[in-house]
Amino acid sequence: MKLFEVYNAYDISPIKGKGAYVHDKKGNEILDFYGGHAVISVGHSHPHYLKRIQSQLEKLGFYSNAVNNELQEILANKLGQLSGLKDYQIFYSNSGAEAVENAIKIASLETGKHKIISFSNGFHGRTSAAASATDMAKAQFPIFSSMASTKLTLNDEAALIKAMEAGEHCAVIVEAIQGWGGIYEAEPSFLQLIQDLCKKHHAKFIADEVQAGYGRSGKFFSFQHSDVNPDIICCAKGMGNGFPIGATLFKSDIQPKKGTLGSTFGGNHLSMAAGIAVLEIIKNENLVQNAKAIGEYLKINLQNIPNVKSCRGKGLLIGLEFDFPVKPIIQNMLFKENVFCGSALHKNTLRLLPPLNISQLEADIFCNKLKKVVELHRQTISEKV
Ligand SMILES: Cc1ncc(COP(=O)(O)O)c(C=O)c1O
Repeated sequence: MKLFEVYNAYDISPIKGKGAYVHDKKGNEILDFYGGHAVISVGHSHPHYLKRIQSQLEKLGFYSNAVNNELQEILANKLGQLSGLKDYQIFYSNSGAEAVENAIKIASLETGKHKIISFSNGFHGRTSAAASATDMAKAQFPIFSSMASTKLTLNDEAALIKAMEAGEHCAVIVEAIQGWGGIYEAEPSFLQLIQDLCKKHHAKFIADEVQAGYGRSGKFFSFQHSDVNPDIICCAKGMGNGFPIGATLFKSDIQPKKGTLGSTFGGNHLSMAAGIAVLEIIKNENLVQNAKAIGEYLKINLQNIPNVKSCRGKGLLIGLEFDFPVKPIIQNMLFKENVFCGSALHKNTLRLLPPLNISQLEADIFCNKLKKVVELHRQTISEKV
C-alpha cells in the first residue's frame, strides 16, 4: 500500500528525541524550534512524562467513558488550578479539530442558531464545522458548503458589529494569537467587543487555544493577556506533548444534554496520564514563566537580525517576518544548521514554536545559527543582483 502524501514533507527521519532536540536516522542532532507543530510543550521524552505513561500502561491503558475514570477528574482539577479558570466543565476528545467541532456544536445547540463568525487567516481544523471556520481554500469541501462561516478581518470592529447586528450567529470563534496565519494578535479591545456582542446577540464566544494555549504565550491561555472570559475554550496540541488529546471547556451555565457529546477514545486512561504529567511538569518547572522569559529574550535578539521587518507574538509563539520569503531560510536552518523552524501562511514569516522548557543557551544557539543562515542568504541575493 502506498502512503498518501499529506504534506510536502522534509526528507528527514527523526527516530528519537530528548528535551529540545530530536535525533534523525543519520545521527544528526536537530534543535527543535518547531515542536512538532506546537505540540511539544514539556520537551521530548521528559522523564516524568515517560514514567507516568509507562506506569499507567502497566496498570490499564484504556477503558471507555462507560465507566468512572478518576484520572479525568485529576486532570480537570489540575487544569482548573493552573489556568485559574473557575466554573467550566470539560469534555475530552482526541485532537484540535474535535475540540473545535464540539465547541461549535455546543454553541449551536445552546443558541438554536447555525451560523458562525470566524476570521481571515484563522485555522481551526479540518473536520466539518471546524473546516468551515478555517480560512483555507484546500480545507473546504462541497458537502460542508451549507456551513460556510462569515469570515471577517481580524480586529475590524465595524465589520464585526455589522455582521452580528441581525443576531443570526451562534458563535464567534477566534485565536487570540493566530498560529498558522502568521502570528497575528487579536487586540484586547477586539476580544472585549466579541465578548460584549456575543452577550448582546445571544451567541457564544469561542476561544481557539489549540496552538497558542497551554502556556505557550507566557500565560496559560493566550486570551488571558486580555480581560475576557470566553464561553467556550478549545485545547489540544501541547496538552498531551504528543499524546493525542483534545478538550472543549465550557462555562457551567451551558448545559448540553447527556448523550449529545461523546467519544470512544476521549478521556482514556493513557491519555489522561499523559495530560496529567504535562500539567505537573508545567507547574513544577514554572514553564509558563519560562515561556514568557525566554520568549522576551528571544524577541530582543531576533529583532536585530538584518532584513527582519517585524517580530510578532508572545512567549514562545513567535512570528519573525523578513523582507523576503523564508523558504530557503527554513531549508538551510534544517539541512545546514540542524534546526527545525516552522513556516506560516504568510510566506515571509518564520514561525517559532519550541518546547516551553528551552534554556537561554538553546535560545542563543538558535539566534546564532539563524544569523549565520540569514547572512549567507543575503550574500546569495546580492550576488544574484
Ligand atoms: C488554532 C488551531 N485550531 C485547531 C487546529 C486543529 O488541530 P488538529 O490538527 O489537532 O485537528 C489547529 C492545528 O494546527 C490549530 O492550530
